[in-house]
Amino acid sequence: MSCKLCAIVAVCDDWGIGYEGDMIVSNRADMRRFVELTSGHTVIMGRKTLESLPGGRPLKNRRNIVLTRDEAFAREGVEVVHSPEEALAAVEGEDEAWVIGGAEVYCQLLPYCSRVAVTKNHCRRLADTFFPNLDELDEWRIADTSETFTIAPEEEDHGIAFEFVDYVRTDADDASDDEVCEAPVEADGDASEPVHVKTMILYRSKHHGNTKKIVDAIVAAFPEDVDAVDVATLDKGQTVDLSDYPLVGVASGIYYGEIDKDLARVLQNSLIEGTFVFSLLTYGGASKWYGKDIDGICRAQRANYLAGHGCVGFDTWGPYKLTGGMNKGRPDDSDLADMVAWYRNLVQGYGEPLNAELEKRRRREAWNAAHPDPTILDKLKHTGRKLFRRGGK
Ligand SMILES: NC(=O)c1ccc[n+]([C@@H]2O[C@H](COP(=O)([O-])OP(=O)(O)OC[C@H]3O[C@@H](n4cnc5c(N)ncnc54)[C@H](OP(=O)(O)O)[C@@H]3O)[C@@H](O)[C@H]2O)c1
Ligand SMILES: Cc1cc2nc3c(=O)[nH]c(=O)nc-3n(C[C@H](O)[C@H](O)[C@H](O)COP(=O)(O)O)c2cc1C
Repeated sequence: MSCKLCAIVAVCDDWGIGYEGDMIVSNRADMRRFVELTSGHTVIMGRKTLESLPGGRPLKNRRNIVLTRDEAFAREGVEVVHSPEEALAAVEGEDEAWVIGGAEVYCQLLPYCSRVAVTKNHCRRLADTFFPNLDELDEWRIADTSETFTIAPEEEDHGIAFEFVDYVRTDADDASDDEVCEAPVEADGDASEPVHVKTMILYRSKHHGNTKKIVDAIVAAFPEDVDAVDVATLDKGQTVDLSDYPLVGVASGIYYGEIDKDLARVLQNSLIEGTFVFSLLTYGGASKWYGKDIDGICRAQRANYLAGHGCVGFDTWGPYKLTGGMNKGRPDDSDLADMVAWYRNLVQGYGEPLNAELEKRRRREAWNAAHPDPTILDKLKHTGRKLFRRGGK
């Protein structure tokens, strides 16, 4: 290939480069250098990196090539390609082109790059995307290191030391054969394979065991995935550890227009911020109950209420008790099958994102535990001063 292909990236000490679609360190000097090096040339980026640019717009004064698997993708000012080979062919006649990220695209095009311009921000930040650690790869060596600078006081990430480090290939000729990092492989699993989501159902079945029947049916249909706790078996004040469950179900009969109060209390005390919740309700009246109580508790606990489903249950409530109740024999087999099918659809629809969210939560918690914020006292003092000034006006 006649075009000199280079990559440019800003990394933290662990080679983290991004979190939830954004850069993790804000450094204007790095941005200036980025513009300086790439202006007038072609830049190659992944579709997600394009989305992370202001307004999702391409970079000015540069030819923008964007990789996507979406055949219908189009954006003004962008040349769309659908494979790394197509990207390489598109820059064939150029002198110099820059791979500008993100992680997926770096991984696939790094074997074709002869230079990597790295900004090393000396800090550690929570990251979900990483650049390969070039210091650990034999095929890369440092060609040049700048002096150490510090992010300016008026910037958000002020005080962080950084330097510009240029890496070049130790053996440029073999570049395209080198396995620098594994390109992400498409999951070739069977699309119809069931998604497994670890689910905890908290329930209370107070009167006729109607709600228990639907919980038992779901546990029996998904014995490996679904656990259940009857809140009636808990001591007062006892909570349920939900930290390992990406999905939590709440099952209750409706009593005087509400879900069971003990269940509501256990849920309030056990829910973790960010957990995904669904409801399974049984009721005697003809009207459906959409889980407004559960939605309210989720909002208060910053959990996410996804959806609910319900069915009628045999009931001797209200004036109907004089005639032996209504909905005799319900939930019947078809009600139970309907509830099981609804749960299956929920898990097949949301399963993968739910598992991914749990993974993210675990990473975030582990990172926070290992990196207590050293500036927390300063931030508290700053907030205190601001409040004090506002109060004094
Ligand atoms: N620190 C830095 O210097 C720096 C630089 C750039 C980005 N970042 C960060 O990196 C993160 C984004 O990185 P990322 O790895 O998630 O995404 P990315 O590499 O920017 O984009 C991934 C997307 O590119 C397309 N793509 C990838 N391989 C392809 C192939 N072989 N054929 C066709 N299309 C392909 C796909 O688009 P479709 O989904 O449309 O099919 C894929 O979803 C963000 O957090 C961003 O802020 C950091
Ligand atoms: C004391 C009592 C109050 C009830 N209140 C309502 C109600 O307000 N609305 C309704 O639709 N059903 C009501 N029901 C019917 C129950 O919600 C229904 O029978 C439910 O399936 C009971 O679930 P369980 O057997 O799991 O406790 C009530 C039932 C009882 C016994």
